[in-house]
Amino acid sequence: MNRRDFLQLSVFGVAAVAMPRWSLAQVESGYAYHYKLSAEPTTVELVPGFKTDVLTFNGNVPAPVIRAKQGQPVRIEFTNNLAEPTTIHWHGLRIPIEMDGVPFLSQKPIMPGETFTYEFTPPDAGTFWYHPHMNSVEQLGRGLVGAFVVEESIKPDFDIDETLILKHWHLDKKGAWKALSRPRYAARMGTPGEWGTANGTNNPRFEYPAGSRVRLRLANVDNTMTYNLRLQGVKAKVIAIDGNPVIEAYPFDQHRIGPGMRLDLAFVMPEQGTGTKTSTDNINTPSVVLEYLRGQFGFPLAHFQSKKGAASPAKPMPKLAMNPIPVPDLQNAETLPFVFEWEGAISPVDAAGKTHDTFWLINRRPWIGMGPGNIPEPVADLKLGKTYIFDLKNNTQYHHPIHIHGHTFLVLEMDGEPVTPFYTDTVLLGKNGRAKAALVADNPGRWMYHCHVIEHMKTGLMGYVRVS
Ligand code: C2O
Ligand code: CU
Ligand code: CU
Repeated sequence: MNRRDFLQLSVFGVAAVAMPRWSLAQVESGYAYHYKLSAEPTTVELVPGFKTDVLTFNGNVPAPVIRAKQGQPVRIEFTNNLAEPTTIHWHGLRIPIEMDGVPFLSQKPIMPGETFTYEFTPPDAGTFWYHPHMNSVEQLGRGLVGAFVVEESIKPDFDIDETLILKHWHLDKKGAWKALSRPRYAARMGTPGEWGTANGTNNPRFEYPAGSRVRLRLANVDNTMTYNLRLQGVKAKVIAIDGNPVIEAYPFDQHRIGPGMRLDLAFVMPEQGTGTKTSTDNINTPSVVLEYLRGQFGFPLAHFQSKKGAASPAKPMPKLAMNPIPVPDLQNAETLPFVFEWEGAISPVDAAGKTHDTFWLINRRPWIGMGPGNIPEPVADLKLGKTYIFDLKNNTQYHHPIHIHGHTFLVLEMDGEPVTPFYTDTVLLGKNGRAKAALVADNPGRWMYHCHVIEHMKTGLMGYVRVS
């Protein structure tokens, strides 16, 4: 057995026996969904055999999956045990602005040692996630990323409901940190990490009874990477994009998820060994392999083995109900053009006299950050209740997952072609890509609007819209 085989086996050994299922500290109270959450520095083993200093939620990698229920209040008492201020943002949830977790725009930064209680009622069911919205390159990059699952008010009957958060950590082979951001890369596709993980483990293995109806929730919580996903060894269907059920489930072939984006798949666990071996795979009979593609090559992210026994009698695959997202009034919509551009030469100076690398622009303007009493003008003013069509245009050679807070887009067109409309909070623009996405501005407040490649948002590709 060579060293590589040994390493992989030992990873599998650990993962199969003890894929951690960290539960949140649930608090007894009038709330059915009441949790305690904290951000804290911890040391964990990510690369087997080596220790890494990370930032965690509740001391664990992966962060706990927060489970809430559609239409039911959730309360999260969040304590900041970091050495710096932070806030928590609930990515994809259409909740009031006071709970959106953006410093200065929606709340004061939560200082070290302070507790802030987030309390809201998620209107939509689906796969969402949570992360800080301060010092994001560092705070997200070092581990503060977690899944937030909102269960349907009437729970669909899957046998397995699995959530995987995908992240490439910026670690070397001995678990030591490498630079999270290099200007040279920030001005291009972003600085990629090298240690690929699903739920904090490199290539974990899961075992499900053959015949189980599996719902696989995938969330790209990476700072930089766009994963072009495929699933080998089974015919799966796409059932939801960015938490939102698709109008009609369709066969899954390949799908790109940029940073911040999610994908829900459904499949029936096959009997055994139907999977094709991948280039970097040394397991004999993988059943199902989740991979991401780089050019022709597939790299495994997770393995799913079937185990004998209790194959549930063939029941139909459940269908997801649509979320109550307001329907855009396209007849009376106003179109707003947004052009995303690159300009390497700008280095504006902020109020404190610090220069900032700004490589990216929205409508000719770079975002240079904000502070108390120093909030730039919005990129657009939206009238409460009105429908807008965001006409997105990427004039650069790089991908940009364009994300909006507090609202959900209905995508109408991609690259000039009409598409089957789908709901999303993040639209992935490819190289020189375009999209048309509609929304009803029904949530009053100042909502961040930015690229979710963290280095892009930190070097200019950010702004906010004001709904009033
Ligand atoms: Cu995932 Cu501004 O957020
Ligand atoms: Cu968000
Ligand atoms: Cu970008």
